[in-house]
Amino acid sequence: MSLVNAAEMLKKAKAGHYAVGQFNINNLEWTKAILLTAQELNSPVILGVSEGAGKYMTGFKTVAAMVKAMDESLGITVPVALHLDHGTYEGCYKCIQAGFTSIMFDGSHYPFEENLAKSSELVSVAHNLGLSIECEVGSIGGEEDGVVGMGECADPDECKTIADLGVDMLAAGIGNIHGKYPANWKGLSFETLDAIQAKTGEMPLVLHGGTGIPADMIKKAISLGVSKINVNTECQLSFQEATRKYIEEGKDQQGKGFDPRKLLAPGFEAIKATVKEKMELFGSVGKA
Ligand code: 13P
Repeated sequence: MSLVNAAEMLKKAKAGHYAVGQFNINNLEWTKAILLTAQELNSPVILGVSEGAGKYMTGFKTVAAMVKAMDESLGITVPVALHLDHGTYEGCYKCIQAGFTSIMFDGSHYPFEENLAKSSELVSVAHNLGLSIECEVGSIGGEEDGVVGMGECADPDECKTIADLGVDMLAAGIGNIHGKYPANWKGLSFETLDAIQAKTGEMPLVLHGGTGIPADMIKKAISLGVSKINVNTECQLSFQEATRKYIEEGKDQQGKGFDPRKLLAPGFEAIKATVKEKMELFGSVGKA
């Protein structure tokens, strides 16, 4: 199946009270692990690409070509969206040109009026070309690939104004943070989430910073309207741990253990296991 935009899968998720996972990709191994797991579990999936990861992979064009070819070569039949994560205004246009099926415009660091104007323009450009679009209100704490946020909770009225532009999914800060959560983290603000959902109705809400959020909070967030959950760091940590173990056990020095296809295999399997665990928790298994 060719790549799709994320609108349909998220509408279904919102109506069915589950969430679709967005898993960020870094290279071929990441992409293959996520696509194969989604197919094995018959789950829709969103591949997230930060601007930093896009640059690392030599540009959005390379990413789109790789993902499209891999989706076809692996015979993937579940819905897959290729989505820009925390895009700048310019980055959104680059991804549209490169053939992404979905974009996120993160205008949360602009004064609200400017976020609104730029979001509005990008919504109409994306929709004219058949792409889905995510916008952001409030900010996600911590740092991801150079995108730094203070983590302030979103204003539900501003959320409604942005949602009314016709965005397909809305990222709202509710005390979530990119990367590992600090020991003194206060948890998600369900009060804010509840107020946002009350104002935005059917709008699929996005929970960023999926790494390390306890399962009960994930479930509660889904019950309050979250239909897309982003996971990045957790796959990196799984990959790192499995790769470290392989090397510490000296396996890279046994036989042809240095072969990159062998060296990267444990990390690849670890990403698959993390993606599976998340898809089961989010309830997207069997929903393709
Ligand atoms: P984590 O790295 O905390 O999982 O966050 C991912 C994310 O929100 C991508 O935008």
